[in-house]
Formats: sequence, structure tokens, C-alpha cells
Amino acid sequence: MSQEHQLEHNYNYTVVRQFALVTILWGIVGMSVGVLIAAQLVWPQLNFDTPWLTYSRLRPLHTNAVIFAFGVSALFTSSYYVVQRTCKTRLFGGLLVPFTFWGWQAIILSAIITLPLGYTTSKEYAELEWPIDIAIAIVWVAYATVFFGTLIKRNTSHIYVANWFFGGFILTVAVLHIVNSMAIPVSLGKSYSIYSGAVDAMVQWWYGHNAVGFLLTAGFLGMMYYFVPKQAERPVYSYRLSIVHFWGLISLYIWAGPHHLHYTALPDWTQSVGMVMSILLFVPSWGGMINGIMTLSGAWHKLRYDPILRFLIVSLSFYGMSTFEGPMMAIKTVNALSHYTDWTIGHVHSGALGWVAMVTIGSLYHLIPKLFGQERMYSIKLINVHFWLATIGTVLYIVAMWISGVMQGLMWRAVNSDGTLTYSFVETVEASHPFYLVRFIGGVIIVSGMWLMAYNTYKTVTSPKSSLKAISQPAL
Ligand code: HEM
Ligand code: HEM
Repeated sequence: MSQEHQLEHNYNYTVVRQFALVTILWGIVGMSVGVLIAAQLVWPQLNFDTPWLTYSRLRPLHTNAVIFAFGVSALFTSSYYVVQRTCKTRLFGGLLVPFTFWGWQAIILSAIITLPLGYTTSKEYAELEWPIDIAIAIVWVAYATVFFGTLIKRNTSHIYVANWFFGGFILTVAVLHIVNSMAIPVSLGKSYSIYSGAVDAMVQWWYGHNAVGFLLTAGFLGMMYYFVPKQAERPVYSYRLSIVHFWGLISLYIWAGPHHLHYTALPDWTQSVGMVMSILLFVPSWGGMINGIMTLSGAWHKLRYDPILRFLIVSLSFYGMSTFEGPMMAIKTVNALSHYTDWTIGHVHSGALGWVAMVTIGSLYHLIPKLFGQERMYSIKLINVHFWLATIGTVLYIVAMWISGVMQGLMWRAVNSDGTLTYSFVETVEASHPFYLVRFIGGVIIVSGMWLMAYNTYKTVTSPKSSLKAISQPAL
């Protein structure tokens, strides 16, 4: 048996397989709740006058499901796979490894139960109450022990850059979660933050923005730095640039939180620091995007027939788009127009659907056959159909929100010559209605793509081992 084969047998793929499958499941659940709340904004009667079906309770269920169930499961999958292969060693930690899987699933289930019941801290992206917060901290420490333990016992001399991004994400999320969740419990289901006023807002958005920067960005960049070169069968364009990308990104992101609090009671200088750091963030973000896209140098022709590569490259384009848009929105005068409008929602989903979901889907299509003893997915054609559904659905969603958002901002600030407001608030809601319908349609298209993925995965997993052979000729 070759050394490569021996290593393959030694790796712990069980946990990677488990996390890969639940990523698809939670993707479907989280996005379907997104479609439901999108529908409620078009047809409010879909609340059915039932407390646990109201928009206010389902919206945090959506954000928690897509970020912490879908997104974090995707990061567990890829970090556990990549760290073993690039360190040429089995995952460290013995029983801690399955503990991270079952512990994380238990946390997701408790969120699915408590959020619709109305238990919430009311802090965005940190809504879960204190007993669940403690459970998150425990599972996260176990995750860090497994990941860094594996890095320490590695059989390679250097640490591949994807692991730098995964490591940065794991460490920072631990600190963010613990600091932001500090609270005084008054009962099993209710607690109050130890912070108050402007300090509470600052801590919350230091957390919130870095959840974007380290979880939705750095973690997924770790994924990008492994799966783009693998799928393109090319070395990463510039290893040096990837290290500059890493240090640039982490040293700037941590300061940018105040751009969520422009024109608030936060000291003005803090808002300006947040704005400047956000504008600077454009540079390393684009450095990273260019590094990913240029990895295709000499392999551009593969885009013609490889839909997995298309997912990965289009995800990088969306990454570039949202990291251009974000710094613009952080400029105070631009934010005066965009804040509170659907423009923010468009920006969020160009990052969340275009970047996070697409890079995850591309990476999973690369990974699933490898995990289940096949050379390729059951149907390459279905991957291609999924690619188009995901792209068209995402574009419909974000374009609708951009138009609706800019329109809302302009309508809110329009004044008559006598100084009175030109439009009432209800008129702006009415004007947004058609765009909410377009967003809903986009969402339905995206979720249908996810069902195709589930079917394709099911067929790949249940086909007899090694029966799906790689296709050497272009498949499409
Ligand atoms: C089918 C796909 C999706 C649909 C239809 C959808 C729909 C929605 C809707 C209707 C909202 C509420 C907007 C508002 O309050 O005005 C929302 C918020 C949000 N969604 Fe999604 N979503 C989808 C996928 C995703 C994914 C994959 C992610 C993350 C990976 C995500 C992250 C978020 C976040 C972070 C917010 C809160 C934004 C904010 O407060 O500014 N969504 N989504
Ligand atoms: C250079 C990078 C980026 C910068 C400077 C940036 C900047 C901004 C700004 C200024 C806002 C609006 C704040 C407000 O008016 O309330 C915002 C909102 C948001 N961005 Fe970004 N963004 C960046 C990249 C991304 C990416 C890649 C994602 C997703 C993967 C993302 C996710 C979000 C979310 C979820 C919100 C809404 C937060 C909320 O209000 O609930 N951003 N961002």
C-alpha cells in the first residue's frame, strides 16, 4: 500500500461525512425559513395569527439556521477535512471529535425549539439564551482543542494557509462569543446583558461585524484556499499574497464594527475609525479575491465544462462584489442613505448567498464523492442545473433588494418645498411590495437548487462504491 493510501485510511472521515450531510440538510431548512419570511413580507397573513409563526420569531430562526447550522457545519466539514490532509495526520482528540458533532447538533435543535417559542436575548446573531450560550462555549473549546491539537501533531513542516484562516476563525469566534454573551441570568430562559447603553451597542457590533469577518469570511476563505486549487488542479496563485491577505484581513476587520452604528450615541471618533478601517478592508479583500481567481491561470478552459469550478469562481466574484459594496456603505454619507433600507439586506445576501453558500456548495460537490468512495458526483448535469438556479436566484434576490433599498432611502429623505415629508412611511412599504415578490421568487429558485443537490448527494452516497468513474472528456 502506498504512503498516500495508508494516510487515507488513517484519516477520520466519519465526522467529515456527518458534517457534510447535515450541512445540506440545514441549508435546506435555513433557506426554506428564509423563503417563508420572504413570503410573509409579501403576504403578511402567512403569520396565521400564531405566535410561533410570526415574522419576529422566524427571522432570528432563519439567521441562526443559515449562519450557525448551515454555515458552521460547512466550516466543521471543511476544516476537519483540510487540517487532516494538509497536516498528514489523523484528527486529534479521540471522543472530543464526535462530541463536537453531536454537541453542535444538540445546540441547533435547542435553537430550533427556543427561538419560535420566543426565548431571546434580543441581541442580533446572539439571540440564544444563556444555557445554550454556555453549551456553545463548551463545544467551541472542544473544536479548538481538536483543530489546534491536530495542527500541533502534524507530520509536515509548515502550516498550509487554509489552516491559518480556519485557526483565526476558531480563536476569534471563541473570544467574540464569550465577551458578547456575558449576562446575568434571572431564570432558565431569561438573562440581561452585563453591558448597557452605548457600550452594549459597541460590544454587540464588535461581535456582529466580526461574526461576518471571521465566521462568514475568514472561515470560508480557508475553504477557498484549499478547494479552489484542488478543483482547478493548479497551485494557489501566490502563497505570499495569501499570507499578506490573512494578516491584512484580521488586523483590519476587528476595528470595523462601528460602521453598524453611524449617527448613533457612539462617540463620533469611534464611528470615523470604523469607517476608515472598513475602507482599508477593501485592499486585502480584493487581494484575496484576485489570488483565488488567478489560481485559474492556465486552467480557464475548465470553466467551460466544470460546474463545480464555476460555483467556486462565481462565489469569489460575489465575494469581490460584497467587499467592494461594504466599504462604500461604511462611508457615513452613503450609510445615511443605505441604513435601515433593503440595500443592507441586498448586501448581506450577496455575501451570504453569493459568497458563503456558493463556495460551500462548490466545495461539497468536490468533497462528497471523495468521502463516499466515488470519483465524481452521480450527475454532473444536475450540478450544472444547480449552478444556474443558484446564480439566477441570487441575482434576482440582490438586484430586487438594491432597487428597493435605494428607492426607500430616497423616498424617506424626499421633502417638499415647505419642509414636510413627500412620502408617508406606508407609501414606501407599498412601493417595496413588488420587489419583495421578486425576492420570494429568487428564494424559491435557490431552494429548488438545494433539493437537486440533496437528490444528487443521495444518489452518490447510495451508488455501489467506486461505481461512479471520473469523466475524462468534458461532460457538457
Ligand atoms: C433562499 C435563500 C434565502 C432567502 C429567501 C432569505 C431571506 C431572508 C429574509 C426575507 C430576510 C429578512 C430581511 C428583512 O428583515 O428585511 C433575511 C435576513 C437575513 N438573512 Fe437570509 N435568506 C436566504 C438565505 C440566506 C443565507 C444562505 C444566509 C447566510 C449564509 C442568510 C443570512 C441572512 C442574514 C444575516 C439576515 C439578516 C440581515 C440583517 O439583519 O441585515 N440568508 N433573509
Ligand atoms: C470589506 C468587507 C465588508 C465591509 C466593509 C462591510 C460593511 C458593511 C456595512 C457598512 C454594513 C451596513 C451597516 C448598517 O448600515 O447597519 C454591512 C452590513 C452587513 N454586512 Fe457587510 N461588509 C463587508 C463584507 C461583508 C460580507 C463578505 C458579508 C457576508 C458574508 C457581510 C455581511 C453583512 C451583514 C450580515 C450585515 C448586516 C448586519 C445587520 O445589520 O444585521 N458583509 N456591512
